[in-house]
Amino acid sequence: MNADNRYYWPHKDLLDVTQLSGMDTLHLLDLAASFQEINRRPLKKVPTLKGKTVVLFFVENSTRTKTSFDVAAKRLSADTYSLTKSGSSLNKGESLKDTALTLQAMGPDVIVMRHASSGAAAYLAKGLSCAVVNGGDGWHAHPTQALLDCFSLREAWEGRFAGRTLLILGDIAHSRVARSNVHLFSMLGTRVRLCAPRTLLPAGVENWPVEIFSDLSRAARNVDAVMCLRLQLERQQVRLLPDLAEYSRRYCLGSAHLAMAGTDVKVLHPGPLNRGLEIADDIADAPASLVLNQVAAGVSTRMAVLYLLATRRDGKPT
Ligand code: CP
Repeated sequence: MNADNRYYWPHKDLLDVTQLSGMDTLHLLDLAASFQEINRRPLKKVPTLKGKTVVLFFVENSTRTKTSFDVAAKRLSADTYSLTKSGSSLNKGESLKDTALTLQAMGPDVIVMRHASSGAAAYLAKGLSCAVVNGGDGWHAHPTQALLDCFSLREAWEGRFAGRTLLILGDIAHSRVARSNVHLFSMLGTRVRLCAPRTLLPAGVENWPVEIFSDLSRAARNVDAVMCLRLQLERQQVRLLPDLAEYSRRYCLGSAHLAMAGTDVKVLHPGPLNRGLEIADDIADAPASLVLNQVAAGVSTRMAVLYLLATRRDGKPT
C-alpha cells in the first residue's frame, strides 16, 4: 500500500512467485478477471498498452506460454517481437548477455524469456532496465503458469483457496510448474499433496509444505483438484523409470482415482499432455478437466502481468 492506502504493484520483474505477497497475487488475479471480460467480447482489443513493446525471447520450445503472451500483448494493443534460439545469433555463439543487451537497445518495455537454465531470467533482469518476465527457467520456476492455475481454480472453487486440497501428480523432480504451484497455493491456504515415485521427487522435498504419497489411490482421497504433470523424459540425465508401462499403470490419472476424490474434483494439466501416460485420454477430455480453461486463463493472466509491469511507476498505484 502507499500513503493514500491504495495498492500499488511493487515489482519491476516477475521472476518467481516467491516474490509475490498474498495481496500482489489477489490483485493480479482480480485484474486478470477484468481482462477475461474483454476476452469474452466479440471485439477483444483495448488500447491500454498502445505504444508499449513486448519481446518474446524463447530459447526453449513453447506453444502455450509464448502464444498466450503474444495474444495477451496484442489484445492490449502492445507491439510484439519474437526471437527463438534457432532463428537468432545465439546459434552463432552470441552470449545470452549480449543477446539481451541487443534486445534492450531496441527499447522494449517488457522481455518475456524462457530458458532451459534455472536462474536465466533473474540473470537477465539484473542487467536490464526493462521489465523481465520469467516464462519458465529450467526446473526452477514458471510463475505465470502457477498464476493461471490459481486463476482457473479460483473460478472453480468460487474464490476459496483455504480448506481445499490440491494433489500434484507425476514428475515433480523436473517440474518448475510444481515448484511454483506448491509455493503459491500453500501461501493462499490450500493443502498441497504430492504423489510420485521416489525417483521423481526432488532432493529436499521433505522440507516443502506438502504431504507426500507414493500410492495414487491414497493420495487422491477427498482432494478438490488433481494437477497432472508431464513426464519430462528430455530433462532426465539418467533414466529414472525402469518401465513406462509400469509408471502408467501406477501413476496415470484415471476414473477410478477420481471416484475417490471430492465430489466436484477438477483436473488440471499445464500441457503438453502425454495422454495415456500421466493422464487417461477420457479424463483429459472429461467435464472435470480444466485443461482448456487453463489455456484461456493464460491469456487473461498474462494480460494482467504485462499491464502491471508495463505501466508500473515506483510507489504509485497502477
Ligand atoms: N504449460 C506450458 O508452459 O506450456 P508450453 O511449454 O507449451 O508453453
